[in-house]
Amino acid sequence: AEKRPLVPVIWMHGLECTGCSESFIRSKAPLASDVLLTMISLEYSDTLSAASGADLEHHREKIMKEYAGKFLMVAEGGVPTGNNGYYCTVGGLPYVDILKETAQAAAAVLEFGSCASWGGVQAAKPNPTQCTSVSALVPGKPIVKVPGCPPIPEVMTGVVMHFILFGQLPPLDSKGRPKQFFGNRIHDTCYRRPFFDSGMFVERLDDAGSKAGWCLYKMGCRGPMTYNSCGNMRWWQGLSYPIQSGSPCIGCSSNGFWDNDPFFER
Ligand code: SF4
Ligand code: SF4
Ligand code: F3S
Repeated sequence: AEKRPLVPVIWMHGLECTGCSESFIRSKAPLASDVLLTMISLEYSDTLSAASGADLEHHREKIMKEYAGKFLMVAEGGVPTGNNGYYCTVGGLPYVDILKETAQAAAAVLEFGSCASWGGVQAAKPNPTQCTSVSALVPGKPIVKVPGCPPIPEVMTGVVMHFILFGQLPPLDSKGRPKQFFGNRIHDTCYRRPFFDSGMFVERLDDAGSKAGWCLYKMGCRGPMTYNSCGNMRWWQGLSYPIQSGSPCIGCSSNGFWDNDPFFER
């Protein structure tokens, strides 16, 4: 069989915590190592590349030119636009400029995480760096939002796989998220839902209802308005998710969760 050429990937980092990369490398199906070694050619990543500094920046420029219109760009992190972009620099240049230049040459862009998708925690009011999403800066570019803080590992590798196998982006909802993974609210697939429906609520995080695993709605759970796959896919190879470990969902995949949502309500 003819060997499929590996799709070059340039993975950029803006204002963020690198939790999305940490999540990505824990993907089980497909294994992140299989994606990295047999499906894509990760040409540039601040975290995973062996090279660094000027060598790595030159390599990014080379890949951008050689594979113009063919490579996939992944963006992790929000983009500060205040102070001419100098709140985040790469190789001495504003990240926002490098990001726009790279995105222009890419076949498509993936916004990994709530930072890239919505601006993230650093965009919290009063947003001193004027941090924004990637899509706000590259209008008209084929782009997918993959929100979550971080996103579920298999959601990230799933979107990459879709692009590699079908040569196109997956079907998106009105906010630009893949329908396959963001079609349901946490509340729709929550195993505590029968308690919600029966009116059995945790009233305090250390009460008997909490120990019995009742519904966390009164603790400020954002499951009823948050779109993500945590309830059915779960985290860390299907092990658990916030609600299963006793915490209300804080809506980490929703736009503005850092400002709008109470993390805990007592
Ligand atoms: Fe970190 Fe969350 Fe931003 Fe990902 S979305 S880089 S986990 S702060
Ligand atoms: Fe809905 Fe949250 Fe209650 Fe689950 S814990 S049923 S997501 S309100
Ligand atoms: Fe985030 Fe809520 Fe899932 S906090 S990890 S969307 S359960």
